[in-house]
Amino acid sequence: MAAKPPTTTAPEAEAAASPLGTLRDKVARAEAGGGAARRERQHAEGKLTARERVELLLAEGTFEELDQLVEHRCLDFGMADQKVPGDGVVSGHGRIDGRLVYVFAQDFTVFGGSLSETNALKICKVMDLALKMGAPIVGLNDSGGARIQEGVASLGGYADIFLRNTLASGVVPQISAIMGPCAGGAVYSPAITDFTLMVKDTSYMFVTGPDVIKTVTHEEVTKEDLGGALTHNARSGVAHFAVDDDRACLGLVRDLLSYLPSNNLESAPAVRTDDPPDREDPALDTLIPQETSRPYDMKQLIRAVVDDGRFLEVHEHFAQNIVVGFARFAGQSVGIVANQPAVLAGCLDIDASVKGARFVRFCDAFNVPLVTFEDVPGFLPGTEQEWNGIIRNGAKLLYAFAEATVPKITVITRKAYGGAYCVMASKHIRTDLNFAYPTAEIAVMGPEGAVNVLFRKELAQAKDPDALRARKVAEFREKLANPYVAADRGFLDQVIEPRHTRRKIIAGLAMTRTKRDQNPPKKHGNIPL
Ligand code: HXC
Repeated sequence: MAAKPPTTTAPEAEAAASPLGTLRDKVARAEAGGGAARRERQHAEGKLTARERVELLLAEGTFEELDQLVEHRCLDFGMADQKVPGDGVVSGHGRIDGRLVYVFAQDFTVFGGSLSETNALKICKVMDLALKMGAPIVGLNDSGGARIQEGVASLGGYADIFLRNTLASGVVPQISAIMGPCAGGAVYSPAITDFTLMVKDTSYMFVTGPDVIKTVTHEEVTKEDLGGALTHNARSGVAHFAVDDDRACLGLVRDLLSYLPSNNLESAPAVRTDDPPDREDPALDTLIPQETSRPYDMKQLIRAVVDDGRFLEVHEHFAQNIVVGFARFAGQSVGIVANQPAVLAGCLDIDASVKGARFVRFCDAFNVPLVTFEDVPGFLPGTEQEWNGIIRNGAKLLYAFAEATVPKITVITRKAYGGAYCVMASKHIRTDLNFAYPTAEIAVMGPEGAVNVLFRKELAQAKDPDALRARKVAEFREKLANPYVAADRGFLDQVIEPRHTRRKIIAGLAMTRTKRDQNPPKKHGNIPL
């Protein structure tokens, strides 16, 4: 069995030491955490310690620790003589790219990073400060959950944190890095925060673990399959990023923060770029295939038009039929939402709608303009989608785009059919600039579907139905499946040459910089959850 954490020295010994010596002794014990053996175990598992993580996350020499000498107050189960200053969480503030950031890192070497009453008070303190100062909060999670010896005091601590997560939502960015266990009700703090990163192989999240599941449902599942990084990135959508190790995780947190403002009253910082704002890309003129059912990779288009080809994709592994993430145009941070014709033909389904809606709402809350690239044949048909609620889930994306008051620019590259046309930041839901490529097809439904409905009787009676169908499809395509009907109504502001996409978006962002728009006064809306 591992040695007990180093305990508080006897009061007599403290009294004998000099005041400076006493302080140094306490600080040294806090920094030692659960002791050398437990730190080594942490390293052997491929994990860094809480302090190492904080140091790597923040700019060198900027970390100011708070509450380093806080100790738990539990007297039961022999806890009175097992006290470690800091009590299993390292918390404070520092700088990333010169900007103030609050951080807490659970220290697995001290009682498995479990949450005690005092440990929760420390986390709440930095959350309160983050809210008051208007700075992001980053939580580095590595914990066995509620401190079992403390019972309800620990549960109360969790609820205190959840309340603060909720109150801070939409005020300061909240990022959760899962760098070890995160189980039971503890998962609900990351779940409320804006972005969750998970380290592959060393992190896992679940409400009930494999043993409980086996008892209750008789299912057998490993920890990794149940709640590992790939499960939550690709299947459940609980996590937004999967990273290889702790270093990559902390680097990604810094990168992500660079696209975000510190709070909802600010704009994201502008970043210098040498990428010319008027750069044209002739290759874009032929990226969209002539044949309308041929797929292409929307991410290729995104990378071709954003600054320096840099696109930080969010939720890369989940609902890949929609692509969301951050990029910059002429140094200005934007949120990109794009249908992906290379996956499910770019159809909107339940997962894609929820993924898109959450991202749109984040951007709107934090003044990040939205740029939408649209190529969507419609909502995915099928009983599974209908029975699982594509109606209420698709409505989330519609609601999110419609309520968003940040600058909104949409580029229709090809298909914009049916309800999906309305949903994907159409002019009608307050989008500021709507562009389309000459290849755009905007109509109630695709030509084949339309002809089948409109000419059902004629087709049934025709001598050569195939020839009739082909003729009618061509007629429909020419009349309705193009951008010019929408341009004629003013539903599109411009039909643009694809090679000009970058400069059109940059000019649009400059035009919308002073945008003011508001929703009617209300307590809050009722997004169809
Ligand atoms: C107190 C804990 C602890 C906990 C771990 N430890 N979890 N101490 N409270 N919740 C201690 C262990 O006793 C051990 O102490 C040290 O941390 C490391 O734990 P190990 O078990 O040796 O580590 P490992 O093998 O890596 O296993 C990690 C673990 C396991 C899977 C997290 O420790 C575990 O199952 N812990 C209990 C998880 C749990 O049921 N938590 C409550 C969930 S419910 P020593 O002295 O040996 O180093 C919950 C409710 C929240 O959290 C509700 C919010 C609403």
